[in-house]
Amino acid sequence: MNKLSTAFFFLSLAPILSASPTGHWLAKQTFPDGQTRETSLWLKADGNTLTGYMMSPNQDAAPVSNGRISGSEISFTIVRDNFGEERKTDYTGTLTDKTLTLHLPGFWGSRVREMSFQQVSTEPPGALPAPRPKISLPPAADVPSNGLAKTPPMGWNSWNKFARRVSDQVVRQTADAIVKNGMKDAGYIYVNIDDAWQGTRDAEGNIRPNDKFPDMKALADYIHSKGLKIGIYSSPGPKTCANYEGSFQHEEQDAKTFAAWEIDYIKYDWCSASQVYDYHSMQAVYAKMGHALLDSGRPIFFSLCQYGVLKSETWGAKVGGNSWRTTGDIRDTWESMSHIGFDQQLELAPYAGPGHWNDPDMLEIGNGGMTTTEYRTHMSLWSLLAAPLLAGNDLNTASPNIMQILLNKEVIAIDQDPLGKQAKRVSKDGNLEIWARPLKDGAYAVGLFNRGASSAKVTARWSDVGIDGSARVRDLWKHEDLGASAEVFSSDVPSHGVTLVRVEPSR
Ligand code: GLA
Repeated sequence: MNKLSTAFFFLSLAPILSASPTGHWLAKQTFPDGQTRETSLWLKADGNTLTGYMMSPNQDAAPVSNGRISGSEISFTIVRDNFGEERKTDYTGTLTDKTLTLHLPGFWGSRVREMSFQQVSTEPPGALPAPRPKISLPPAADVPSNGLAKTPPMGWNSWNKFARRVSDQVVRQTADAIVKNGMKDAGYIYVNIDDAWQGTRDAEGNIRPNDKFPDMKALADYIHSKGLKIGIYSSPGPKTCANYEGSFQHEEQDAKTFAAWEIDYIKYDWCSASQVYDYHSMQAVYAKMGHALLDSGRPIFFSLCQYGVLKSETWGAKVGGNSWRTTGDIRDTWESMSHIGFDQQLELAPYAGPGHWNDPDMLEIGNGGMTTTEYRTHMSLWSLLAAPLLAGNDLNTASPNIMQILLNKEVIAIDQDPLGKQAKRVSKDGNLEIWARPLKDGAYAVGLFNRGASSAKVTARWSDVGIDGSARVRDLWKHEDLGASAEVFSSDVPSHGVTLVRVEPSR
Protein backbone atom coordinates (compact mmCIF):
# COMPACT_ATOMS: atom_id res chain seq x y z
CA MET A 1 0.00 0.00 0.00
CA ASN A 2 1.53 3.37 -0.93
CA LYS A 3 1.19 6.37 1.35
CA LEU A 4 -1.79 7.80 -0.46
CA SER A 5 -3.86 4.63 -0.44
CA THR A 6 -2.96 4.05 3.20
CA ALA A 7 -4.31 7.50 3.97
CA PHE A 8 -7.53 6.72 2.04
CA PHE A 9 -7.85 3.41 3.85
CA PHE A 10 -7.78 5.10 7.24
CA LEU A 11 -9.96 7.95 6.06
CA SER A 12 -12.63 5.54 4.87
CA LEU A 13 -12.47 3.69 8.19
CA ALA A 14 -12.53 6.88 10.20
CA PRO A 15 -16.29 7.49 10.08
CA ILE A 16 -16.99 3.89 11.14
CA LEU A 17 -14.64 4.13 14.09
CA SER A 18 -15.90 7.52 15.18
CA ALA A 19 -19.62 6.90 14.55
CA SER A 20 -21.56 7.49 17.71
CA PRO A 21 -25.13 6.33 18.15
CA THR A 22 -25.98 9.48 20.09
CA GLY A 23 -28.70 11.40 18.32
CA HIS A 24 -32.03 11.04 16.55
CA TRP A 25 -32.35 8.17 14.06
CA LEU A 26 -35.24 7.88 11.67
CA ALA A 27 -36.41 4.85 9.69
CA LYS A 28 -38.82 5.72 6.94
CA GLN A 29 -40.44 2.81 5.19
CA THR A 30 -42.33 3.57 2.01
CA PHE A 31 -44.65 0.86 0.79
CA PRO A 32 -45.56 0.30 -2.87
CA ASP A 33 -48.99 1.81 -2.15
CA GLY A 34 -47.31 5.09 -1.19
CA GLN A 35 -48.04 4.77 2.54
CA THR A 36 -45.15 5.55 4.83
CA ARG A 37 -44.27 4.35 8.29
CA GLU A 38 -41.79 6.21 10.45
CA THR A 39 -39.98 4.81 13.45
CA SER A 40 -37.68 7.02 15.51
CA LEU A 41 -34.89 6.08 17.85
CA TRP A 42 -33.37 8.64 20.16
CA LEU A 43 -30.13 7.29 21.60
CA LYS A 44 -27.41 8.41 23.94
CA ALA A 45 -24.12 6.57 24.30
CA ASP A 46 -22.27 6.80 27.60
CA GLY A 47 -19.19 4.55 27.53
CA ASN A 48 -20.58 1.13 26.65
CA THR A 49 -24.07 1.99 27.78
CA LEU A 50 -26.92 3.08 25.58
CA THR A 51 -30.07 4.87 26.77
CA GLY A 52 -32.90 6.68 25.00
CA TYR A 53 -36.30 5.75 23.61
CA MET A 54 -38.13 4.47 20.56
CA MET A 55 -41.22 5.89 18.92
CA SER A 56 -43.14 3.57 16.63
CA PRO A 57 -46.30 4.44 14.72
CA ASN A 58 -49.43 4.20 16.84
CA GLN A 59 -47.52 3.66 20.05
CA ASP A 60 -46.36 5.77 22.95
CA ALA A 61 -42.63 6.34 23.39
CA ALA A 62 -40.92 3.32 24.96
CA PRO A 63 -37.60 3.54 26.82
CA VAL A 64 -34.47 1.71 25.70
CA SER A 65 -33.31 -0.66 28.44
CA ASN A 66 -30.21 -2.87 28.71
CA GLY A 67 -28.66 -0.77 25.95
CA ARG A 68 -25.10 -1.79 25.09
CA ILE A 69 -22.61 -0.67 22.49
CA SER A 70 -19.54 -2.59 21.50
CA GLY A 71 -17.65 -1.27 18.48
CA SER A 72 -20.21 -0.91 15.73
CA GLU A 73 -22.65 -3.40 17.30
CA ILE A 74 -25.47 -2.25 19.52
CA SER A 75 -28.17 -4.11 21.42
CA PHE A 76 -31.10 -3.04 23.55
CA THR A 77 -34.51 -4.09 24.80
CA ILE A 78 -37.75 -2.21 24.37
CA VAL A 79 -40.41 -2.98 26.95
CA ARG A 80 -43.95 -2.06 26.02
CA ASP A 81 -47.29 -2.45 27.65
CA ASN A 82 -49.27 -4.75 25.42
CA PHE A 83 -52.85 -4.55 26.71
CA GLY A 84 -51.70 -4.84 30.30
CA GLU A 85 -48.97 -7.38 29.65
CA GLU A 86 -45.29 -6.58 29.37
CA ARG A 87 -43.91 -7.24 25.91
CA LYS A 88 -40.14 -7.26 25.71
CA THR A 89 -38.46 -6.96 22.35
CA ASP A 90 -34.73 -7.50 21.99
CA TYR A 91 -33.02 -5.66 19.17
CA THR A 92 -29.51 -5.84 17.80
CA GLY A 93 -28.11 -3.37 15.35
CA THR A 94 -25.07 -2.43 13.33
CA LEU A 95 -23.85 1.11 13.18
CA THR A 96 -21.96 2.72 10.38
CA ASP A 97 -21.55 6.42 9.76
CA LYS A 98 -25.08 7.93 9.71
CA THR A 99 -26.78 4.56 9.20
CA LEU A 100 -28.05 2.15 11.81
CA THR A 101 -29.38 -1.20 10.65
CA LEU A 102 -31.71 -2.75 13.19
CA HIS A 103 -32.32 -6.48 13.03
CA LEU A 104 -35.91 -7.23 13.87
CA PRO A 105 -36.85 -10.14 16.09
CA GLY A 106 -38.94 -13.13 15.03
CA PHE A 107 -42.41 -11.83 15.83
CA TRP A 108 -42.24 -9.45 12.92
CA GLY A 109 -42.65 -12.54 10.80
CA SER A 110 -40.99 -13.07 7.51
CA ARG A 111 -42.16 -9.84 5.89
CA VAL A 112 -39.67 -7.40 7.44
CA ARG A 113 -36.31 -8.51 8.82
CA GLU A 114 -34.34 -5.28 9.03
CA MET A 115 -34.94 -1.59 9.36
CA SER A 116 -32.48 1.00 8.21
CA PHE A 117 -32.27 4.21 10.26
CA GLN A 118 -30.60 7.40 9.09
CA GLN A 119 -29.16 9.85 11.57
CA VAL A 120 -31.08 13.11 11.38
CA SER A 121 -29.48 14.83 14.36
CA THR A 122 -26.63 14.27 16.80
CA GLU A 123 -28.48 15.96 19.67
CA PRO A 124 -28.80 13.67 22.68
CA PRO A 125 -32.38 12.75 23.61
CA GLY A 126 -34.38 14.77 26.12
CA ALA A 127 -36.78 13.27 28.64
CA LEU A 128 -39.06 10.41 27.59
CA PRO A 129 -42.15 12.00 25.98
CA ALA A 130 -45.24 11.51 28.15
CA PRO A 131 -47.87 9.09 26.84
CA ARG A 132 -50.76 10.75 25.05
CA PRO A 133 -53.82 11.24 27.26
CA LYS A 134 -56.41 8.54 26.64
CA ILE A 135 -60.19 8.71 26.41
CA SER A 136 -62.19 6.54 28.81
CA LEU A 137 -65.71 5.75 27.70
CA PRO A 138 -68.52 4.87 30.11
CA PRO A 139 -69.99 1.38 29.67
CA ALA A 140 -72.34 1.28 26.70
CA ALA A 141 -75.76 -0.31 26.40
CA ASP A 142 -75.72 -3.78 24.87
CA VAL A 143 -76.26 -3.83 21.13
CA PRO A 144 -79.25 -5.94 20.04
CA SER A 145 -78.46 -8.81 17.68
CA ASN A 146 -78.59 -8.05 13.95
CA GLY A 147 -79.91 -11.55 13.31
CA LEU A 148 -77.07 -12.46 10.93
CA ALA A 149 -74.63 -15.37 10.86
CA LYS A 150 -76.73 -18.28 12.04
CA THR A 151 -73.72 -20.29 10.85
CA PRO A 152 -70.11 -19.03 10.61
CA PRO A 153 -69.44 -16.66 7.70
CA MET A 154 -67.79 -18.06 4.58
CA GLY A 155 -66.02 -16.15 1.85
CA TRP A 156 -62.69 -14.59 1.05
CA ASN A 157 -60.56 -11.76 2.44
CA SER A 158 -57.86 -9.87 0.60
CA TRP A 159 -55.25 -9.42 3.35
CA ASN A 160 -53.33 -12.70 3.62
CA LYS A 161 -52.42 -12.73 -0.06
CA PHE A 162 -52.81 -9.21 -1.42
CA ALA A 163 -52.26 -7.04 1.68
CA ARG A 164 -51.77 -3.47 0.43
CA ARG A 165 -52.10 -4.53 -3.21
CA VAL A 166 -55.86 -5.07 -3.00
CA SER A 167 -57.77 -3.19 -5.71
CA ASP A 168 -61.14 -2.99 -7.42
CA GLN A 169 -59.78 -5.30 -10.09
CA VAL A 170 -58.52 -7.91 -7.62
CA VAL A 171 -61.89 -7.91 -5.86
CA ARG A 172 -63.87 -8.25 -9.11
CA GLN A 173 -61.61 -11.01 -10.39
CA THR A 174 -61.92 -12.83 -7.09
CA ALA A 175 -65.72 -12.59 -7.23
CA ASP A 176 -65.63 -13.98 -10.78
CA ALA A 177 -63.42 -16.85 -9.61
CA ILE A 178 -65.70 -17.64 -6.66
CA VAL A 179 -68.63 -18.02 -9.03
CA LYS A 180 -66.69 -20.06 -11.58
CA ASN A 181 -64.75 -22.40 -9.34
CA GLY A 182 -67.71 -23.66 -7.33
CA MET A 183 -66.98 -21.75 -4.14
CA LYS A 184 -70.18 -19.74 -4.34
CA ASP A 185 -72.21 -22.95 -4.58
CA ALA A 186 -70.25 -24.34 -1.64
CA GLY A 187 -71.28 -21.34 0.49
CA TYR A 188 -68.38 -18.87 0.16
CA ILE A 189 -70.46 -15.71 -0.16
CA TYR A 190 -68.53 -12.80 1.37
CA VAL A 191 -65.89 -11.04 -0.72
CA ASN A 192 -64.10 -8.94 1.86
CA ILE A 193 -61.80 -6.01 1.24
CA ASP A 194 -59.34 -5.69 4.11
CA ASP A 195 -57.08 -2.74 4.87
CA ALA A 196 -55.72 -0.39 2.17
CA TRP A 197 -58.89 0.69 0.33
CA GLN A 198 -59.24 4.05 2.12
CA GLY A 199 -58.46 7.46 0.71
CA THR A 200 -59.04 10.79 2.42
CA ARG A 201 -62.18 12.40 3.83
CA ASP A 202 -64.04 15.11 1.95
CA ALA A 203 -64.85 18.53 3.40
CA GLU A 204 -67.88 17.06 5.23
CA GLY A 205 -65.77 14.27 6.67
CA ASN A 206 -67.11 11.53 4.41
CA ILE A 207 -64.59 8.75 3.84
CA ARG A 208 -63.60 8.20 0.22
CA PRO A 209 -61.82 5.22 -1.29
CA ASN A 210 -58.31 5.65 -2.71
CA ASP A 211 -57.34 5.50 -6.40
CA LYS A 212 -57.37 1.71 -6.44
CA PHE A 213 -61.14 1.79 -5.85
CA PRO A 214 -62.70 4.25 -8.30
CA ASP A 215 -66.31 3.63 -7.24
CA MET A 216 -67.15 1.59 -4.17
CA LYS A 217 -70.91 1.52 -4.82
CA ALA A 218 -70.32 0.29 -8.36
CA LEU A 219 -68.02 -2.43 -6.99
CA ALA A 220 -70.67 -3.48 -4.45
CA ASP A 221 -73.26 -3.58 -7.24
CA TYR A 222 -70.96 -5.83 -9.25
CA ILE A 223 -70.42 -8.21 -6.33
CA HIS A 224 -74.16 -8.29 -5.63
CA SER A 225 -74.91 -8.95 -9.29
CA LYS A 226 -72.94 -12.19 -8.88
CA GLY A 227 -75.14 -13.25 -5.97
CA LEU A 228 -72.30 -12.53 -3.51
CA LYS A 229 -71.88 -10.11 -0.61
CA ILE A 230 -69.20 -7.51 -0.04
CA GLY A 231 -67.15 -6.70 3.06
CA ILE A 232 -65.01 -3.74 4.04
CA TYR A 233 -62.57 -2.85 6.82
CA SER A 234 -62.01 0.01 9.25
CA SER A 235 -60.58 0.81 12.68
CA PRO A 236 -61.95 2.58 15.75
CA GLY A 237 -58.61 4.42 15.87
CA PRO A 238 -57.54 7.41 13.76
CA LYS A 239 -55.40 5.11 11.59
CA THR A 240 -55.66 1.50 10.49
CA CYS A 241 -52.85 -0.99 10.99
CA ALA A 242 -51.54 -0.20 7.50
CA ASN A 243 -51.76 3.51 8.32
CA TYR A 244 -54.89 4.37 6.34
CA GLU A 245 -57.75 6.52 7.58
CA GLY A 246 -59.70 4.97 10.50
CA SER A 247 -63.21 5.71 11.76
CA PHE A 248 -62.26 7.58 14.96
CA GLN A 249 -64.89 10.29 15.57
CA HIS A 250 -66.62 9.34 12.32
CA GLU A 251 -68.25 6.11 13.47
CA GLU A 252 -71.85 6.93 12.62
CA GLN A 253 -70.92 8.74 9.43
CA ASP A 254 -68.83 5.78 8.24
CA ALA A 255 -71.54 3.26 9.15
CA LYS A 256 -73.96 5.31 7.02
CA THR A 257 -71.47 5.52 4.16
CA PHE A 258 -70.94 1.76 4.26
CA ALA A 259 -74.71 1.22 4.28
CA ALA A 260 -75.10 3.64 1.35
CA TRP A 261 -72.48 1.67 -0.58
CA GLU A 262 -74.50 -1.47 0.34
CA ILE A 263 -71.70 -3.10 2.25
CA ASP A 264 -72.64 -6.36 3.98
CA TYR A 265 -69.73 -7.01 6.35
CA ILE A 266 -67.27 -4.89 8.27
CA LYS A 267 -64.07 -5.97 9.95
CA TYR A 268 -63.28 -3.43 12.67
CA ASP A 269 -59.63 -3.61 13.63
CA TRP A 270 -58.35 -2.03 16.86
CA CYS A 271 -54.93 -0.89 15.49
CA SER A 272 -54.19 2.69 16.54
CA ALA A 273 -57.18 2.92 18.88
CA SER A 274 -54.82 2.43 21.86
CA GLN A 275 -53.38 5.83 20.99
CA VAL A 276 -56.64 7.59 21.70
CA TYR A 277 -58.60 5.31 24.03
CA ASP A 278 -57.79 3.70 27.33
CA TYR A 279 -57.93 0.14 26.04
CA HIS A 280 -60.12 -0.84 29.01
CA SER A 281 -62.85 1.08 27.18
CA MET A 282 -62.62 -1.38 24.32
CA GLN A 283 -66.06 -2.87 24.88
CA ALA A 284 -67.68 0.58 24.75
CA VAL A 285 -65.59 1.52 21.71
CA TYR A 286 -66.85 -1.53 19.82
CA ALA A 287 -70.41 -0.98 21.06
CA LYS A 288 -70.27 2.49 19.51
CA MET A 289 -69.78 1.01 16.06
CA GLY A 290 -72.21 -1.83 16.87
CA HIS A 291 -74.96 0.74 17.52
CA ALA A 292 -73.94 2.82 14.51
CA LEU A 293 -74.21 -0.21 12.23
CA LEU A 294 -77.60 -1.14 13.59
CA ASP A 295 -78.79 2.46 13.20
CA SER A 296 -77.57 2.48 9.58
CA GLY A 297 -80.60 0.38 8.77
CA ARG A 298 -78.64 -2.19 6.77
CA PRO A 299 -77.86 -5.63 8.16
CA ILE A 300 -74.07 -5.61 8.27
CA PHE A 301 -72.02 -8.51 9.66
CA PHE A 302 -69.84 -7.06 12.43
CA SER A 303 -66.40 -8.67 12.73
CA LEU A 304 -64.36 -7.60 15.77
CA CYS A 305 -60.62 -7.67 15.31
CA GLN A 306 -58.78 -6.94 18.54
CA TYR A 307 -56.60 -10.02 18.76
CA GLY A 308 -58.65 -11.63 21.53
CA VAL A 309 -57.48 -9.28 24.27
CA LEU A 310 -59.66 -8.56 27.31
CA LYS A 311 -61.44 -11.89 26.75
CA SER A 312 -63.49 -10.58 23.85
CA GLU A 313 -65.32 -13.92 23.75
CA THR A 314 -67.15 -12.86 26.91
CA TRP A 315 -68.47 -9.54 25.50
CA GLY A 316 -68.15 -9.75 21.71
CA ALA A 317 -71.81 -10.65 21.21
CA LYS A 318 -72.97 -7.87 23.58
CA VAL A 319 -71.45 -5.17 21.36
CA GLY A 320 -73.26 -6.62 18.37
CA GLY A 321 -70.28 -8.66 17.19
CA ASN A 322 -71.00 -11.59 14.89
CA SER A 323 -67.41 -12.75 15.36
CA TRP A 324 -64.36 -11.73 17.31
CA ARG A 325 -60.75 -12.54 16.71
CA THR A 326 -59.30 -14.76 19.39
CA THR A 327 -55.58 -14.33 18.63
CA GLY A 328 -52.92 -12.23 16.95
CA ASP A 329 -52.41 -12.50 13.21
CA ILE A 330 -52.06 -15.87 11.55
CA ARG A 331 -49.06 -16.49 9.32
CA ASP A 332 -48.70 -19.04 6.57
CA THR A 333 -46.64 -21.48 8.64
CA TRP A 334 -47.38 -24.71 10.46
CA GLU A 335 -46.14 -23.17 13.73
CA SER A 336 -48.47 -20.20 13.53
CA MET A 337 -51.53 -22.07 12.29
CA SER A 338 -51.20 -24.98 14.71
CA HIS A 339 -50.48 -22.77 17.71
CA ILE A 340 -53.51 -20.62 16.97
CA GLY A 341 -55.79 -23.49 16.03
CA PHE A 342 -54.95 -25.96 18.78
CA ASP A 343 -53.43 -24.09 21.72
CA GLN A 344 -55.25 -20.80 21.64
CA GLN A 345 -58.82 -22.08 21.22
CA LEU A 346 -58.90 -24.48 24.14
CA GLU A 347 -61.23 -22.61 26.45
CA LEU A 348 -63.38 -20.89 23.86
CA ALA A 349 -66.02 -23.43 22.82
CA PRO A 350 -68.73 -22.23 25.23
CA TYR A 351 -68.77 -18.76 23.67
CA ALA A 352 -69.52 -19.68 20.05
CA GLY A 353 -73.04 -20.18 18.79
CA PRO A 354 -75.50 -19.12 16.09
CA GLY A 355 -75.04 -15.40 15.45
CA HIS A 356 -71.67 -15.01 17.18
CA TRP A 357 -68.46 -16.92 16.56
CA ASN A 358 -64.89 -17.20 17.76
CA ASP A 359 -62.54 -16.15 14.96
CA PRO A 360 -59.09 -17.77 14.94
CA ASP A 361 -58.25 -15.62 11.87
CA MET A 362 -58.48 -16.16 8.14
CA LEU A 363 -57.37 -19.18 6.16
CA GLU A 364 -53.88 -19.42 4.73
CA ILE A 365 -54.78 -22.44 2.57
CA GLY A 366 -53.04 -22.11 -0.79
CA ASN A 367 -50.58 -19.37 0.11
CA GLY A 368 -47.63 -21.72 -0.21
CA GLY A 369 -46.11 -21.85 3.26
CA MET A 370 -47.58 -25.19 4.32
CA THR A 371 -47.91 -28.64 2.81
CA THR A 372 -51.17 -30.02 1.43
CA THR A 373 -51.40 -32.23 4.52
CA GLU A 374 -51.02 -29.18 6.76
CA TYR A 375 -53.59 -27.19 4.81
CA ARG A 376 -56.03 -30.10 5.19
CA THR A 377 -55.41 -29.94 8.94
CA HIS A 378 -56.04 -26.16 8.80
CA MET A 379 -59.40 -26.68 7.04
CA SER A 380 -60.42 -29.55 9.32
CA LEU A 381 -59.53 -27.74 12.51
CA TRP A 382 -61.22 -24.48 11.50
CA SER A 383 -64.35 -26.46 10.59
CA LEU A 384 -64.35 -28.28 13.91
CA LEU A 385 -63.91 -24.91 15.62
CA ALA A 386 -66.98 -23.49 13.84
CA ALA A 387 -64.65 -20.75 12.65
CA PRO A 388 -65.27 -18.27 9.86
CA LEU A 389 -64.03 -19.85 6.63
CA LEU A 390 -62.51 -16.89 4.84
CA ALA A 391 -60.13 -18.07 2.13
CA GLY A 392 -57.02 -15.89 1.99
CA ASN A 393 -55.32 -17.02 -1.19
CA ASP A 394 -55.34 -15.95 -4.84
CA LEU A 395 -58.38 -17.76 -6.18
CA ASN A 396 -57.42 -17.09 -9.78
CA THR A 397 -54.25 -19.14 -9.54
CA ALA A 398 -55.24 -21.74 -6.93
CA SER A 399 -54.21 -25.31 -7.85
CA PRO A 400 -56.75 -28.15 -8.09
CA ASN A 401 -55.23 -29.59 -4.91
CA ILE A 402 -55.97 -26.42 -3.00
CA MET A 403 -59.44 -26.07 -4.49
CA GLN A 404 -60.22 -29.62 -3.40
CA ILE A 405 -59.44 -28.62 0.17
CA LEU A 406 -61.50 -25.43 0.10
CA LEU A 407 -64.38 -27.17 -1.67
CA ASN A 408 -64.69 -30.29 0.46
CA LYS A 409 -68.43 -30.09 1.08
CA GLU A 410 -68.45 -32.74 3.77
CA VAL A 411 -65.92 -30.74 5.78
CA ILE A 412 -67.73 -27.46 5.10
CA ALA A 413 -70.92 -29.10 6.41
CA ILE A 414 -69.16 -29.63 9.75
CA ASP A 415 -68.24 -25.94 9.94
CA GLN A 416 -71.76 -24.94 8.94
CA ASP A 417 -73.62 -27.39 11.14
CA PRO A 418 -76.73 -25.51 12.37
CA LEU A 419 -76.29 -26.61 15.99
CA GLY A 420 -73.31 -24.24 16.03
CA LYS A 421 -71.35 -26.07 18.73
CA GLN A 422 -67.62 -25.49 18.57
CA ALA A 423 -65.37 -28.54 19.04
CA LYS A 424 -63.48 -29.20 22.25
CA ARG A 425 -60.29 -31.12 22.67
CA VAL A 426 -61.46 -34.36 24.27
CA SER A 427 -58.10 -36.05 24.66
CA LYS A 428 -54.40 -35.43 24.24
CA ASP A 429 -51.53 -37.87 24.25
CA GLY A 430 -48.32 -35.97 23.54
CA ASN A 431 -48.62 -34.72 19.99
CA LEU A 432 -51.81 -36.64 19.31
CA GLU A 433 -55.03 -34.76 19.91
CA ILE A 434 -58.69 -35.64 19.49
CA TRP A 435 -61.14 -32.81 18.92
CA ALA A 436 -64.87 -33.43 18.66
CA ARG A 437 -68.11 -31.52 18.23
CA PRO A 438 -71.73 -32.65 18.36
CA LEU A 439 -73.83 -32.07 15.26
CA LYS A 440 -77.48 -31.18 14.91
CA ASP A 441 -78.58 -34.63 13.73
CA GLY A 442 -77.07 -36.43 16.72
CA ALA A 443 -73.83 -37.38 14.98
CA TYR A 444 -70.36 -36.10 15.94
CA ALA A 445 -67.45 -34.71 13.97
CA VAL A 446 -64.17 -36.05 15.29
CA GLY A 447 -60.68 -34.98 14.27
CA LEU A 448 -57.75 -37.28 14.99
CA PHE A 449 -54.74 -34.97 14.77
CA ASN A 450 -51.03 -35.75 14.75
CA ARG A 451 -48.96 -32.66 15.55
CA GLY A 452 -45.78 -34.71 15.72
CA ALA A 453 -42.88 -34.93 13.28
CA SER A 454 -43.55 -38.55 12.21
CA SER A 455 -46.65 -40.50 11.35
CA ALA A 456 -48.51 -42.15 14.19
CA LYS A 457 -51.49 -44.29 15.00
CA VAL A 458 -54.10 -42.06 16.61
CA THR A 459 -56.96 -43.51 18.61
CA ALA A 460 -60.24 -41.85 19.54
CA ARG A 461 -62.25 -43.37 22.38
CA TRP A 462 -65.99 -42.97 21.90
CA SER A 463 -66.45 -42.45 25.64
CA ASP A 464 -64.24 -39.32 25.39
CA VAL A 465 -66.40 -38.03 22.55
CA GLY A 466 -69.61 -38.68 24.48
CA ILE A 467 -70.75 -41.78 22.58
CA ASP A 468 -71.86 -44.87 24.38
CA GLY A 469 -71.28 -48.15 22.49
CA SER A 470 -70.50 -48.50 18.81
CA ALA A 471 -70.78 -45.96 16.03
CA ARG A 472 -70.63 -45.82 12.23
CA VAL A 473 -67.65 -43.89 10.87
CA ARG A 474 -67.28 -41.90 7.64
CA ASP A 475 -63.94 -40.43 6.55
CA LEU A 476 -64.58 -36.89 5.31
CA TRP A 477 -61.38 -36.53 3.30
CA LYS A 478 -61.51 -39.96 1.67
CA HIS A 479 -65.30 -39.67 1.28
CA GLU A 480 -65.59 -43.25 2.43
CA ASP A 481 -67.80 -45.13 4.89
CA LEU A 482 -65.54 -47.11 7.17
CA GLY A 483 -68.21 -49.23 8.87
CA ALA A 484 -69.01 -49.45 12.55
CA SER A 485 -66.45 -49.26 15.33
CA ALA A 486 -67.07 -50.30 18.90
CA GLU A 487 -65.68 -48.08 21.67
CA VAL A 488 -62.57 -46.89 19.84
CA PHE A 489 -61.52 -45.85 16.36
CA SER A 490 -57.88 -45.76 15.26
CA SER A 491 -56.24 -44.30 12.21
CA ASP A 492 -52.70 -43.94 10.89
CA VAL A 493 -52.18 -40.20 10.60
CA PRO A 494 -49.20 -38.60 8.83
CA SER A 495 -47.06 -35.98 10.53
CA HIS A 496 -49.05 -32.72 10.87
CA GLY A 497 -52.05 -34.51 9.40
CA VAL A 498 -55.59 -35.37 10.40
CA THR A 499 -58.19 -38.04 9.94
CA LEU A 500 -61.52 -36.25 10.08
CA VAL A 501 -64.55 -38.44 10.56
CA ARG A 502 -68.26 -38.10 11.00
CA VAL A 503 -69.49 -40.53 13.58
CA GLU A 504 -73.07 -41.73 13.99
CA PRO A 505 -73.82 -43.51 17.24
CA SER A 506 -75.50 -46.83 16.52
CA ARG A 507 -78.20 -46.17 19.07
C1 GLA B 1 -54.18 -6.38 11.52
C2 GLA B 1 -55.21 -7.49 11.40
C3 GLA B 1 -55.00 -8.24 10.10
C4 GLA B 1 -55.11 -7.27 8.93
C5 GLA B 1 -54.13 -6.12 9.10
C6 GLA B 1 -54.36 -5.04 8.07
O1 GLA B 1 -52.89 -6.87 11.64
O2 GLA B 1 -55.16 -8.35 12.51
O3 GLA B 1 -55.94 -9.28 9.97
O4 GLA B 1 -56.43 -6.80 8.86
O5 GLA B 1 -54.25 -5.53 10.38
O6 GLA B 1 -53.54 -3.94 8.26
